[in-house]
Amino acid sequence: MSYETIQIDRRDKGVAWIIIDNPPANAISEKLMTDLEQAADELGADPSVRVIVITSAHEKTFVAGADLKAMIQSGSQYAGNEAGIVQQSVRMQQCFNRFATLPKPVIAAINGHALGGGCELALACDFRIMSKGKIGLTEVSLGLIPGAGGTQRMTRLLGRAKATELIFTSKRLEPEEALQIGLVNKVTTPEKLVEETTAFAEQLAEGAVKAMGLAKRSIHAAEGPVEDGFIIEAHSFAQTFKTGEPAVGLAAFFQKKKPQFLRSL
Ligand code: COA
Repeated sequence: MSYETIQIDRRDKGVAWIIIDNPPANAISEKLMTDLEQAADELGADPSVRVIVITSAHEKTFVAGADLKAMIQSGSQYAGNEAGIVQQSVRMQQCFNRFATLPKPVIAAINGHALGGGCELALACDFRIMSKGKIGLTEVSLGLIPGAGGTQRMTRLLGRAKATELIFTSKRLEPEEALQIGLVNKVTTPEKLVEETTAFAEQLAEGAVKAMGLAKRSIHAAEGPVEDGFIIEAHSFAQTFKTGEPAVGLAAFFQKKKPQFLRSL
């Protein structure tokens, strides 16, 4: 597969990295969305890829959000084209949903500013590990609102009060502040980001990743009515028995050994 705005790096032990490289600021262009979707398809379908990491090729910025230059250039078209803009928002939501719904763990290794759509992409991942830059939903400061899932995902993650505060003020949070409120899972130094993300990704990749994929679907269902969530949980639970993983996990438990999910599947 060929990509223009990302690189794919398949590393050892079932971990693949998507490295976003769309200079100068990794703004979310149509081509970047197409490339991300193609990567989700490619890595999602590859059984040797067990965990995906998304990061940036750039020194300062993870992803700077929607392409503001394109937006200002076509400003007058935007004003009279409500249906077109709705479509554009849905387009970004659907692109990021590909990672939220991928039945494999996805980690955002945030190595620079993750603003607007950059924060929304990170929110669509299962884990966020951050080393530097600022993170936040900055759209209101531009007279816009988040349109790539941010109002929904940040509210579900942090609760209504905190999400409203952050969205209304467009606050750009330091990594430590983001850690304190639970917006990111872990903070590390720029020097250690790759090493620590790799260690965590490899630890996940050694585990029962098919069960994680099914658990992910069920966890996301907790965002809807609880009755629906219980049904999805029951069906996801049932599907674990088709993956081959319970045979490995249960046998290892009774043999008092570490389960070898990676080797035996
Ligand atoms: N869309 C398009 N271009 C963008 C962009 C965006 N979202 N964000 C930055 N750029 C461009 C800048 O215009 C600049 O282009 P130029 O070199 O042609 O002048 C280049 O990327 C570098 O940006 P600059 O601001 O000079 O770099 P910086 O390192 O000082 O700051 C950011 C980086 C990301 C903190 C800053 O650019 C920023 O705040 N961007 C907007 C983020 C935002 O609010 N996004 C929400 C979009 S809805």
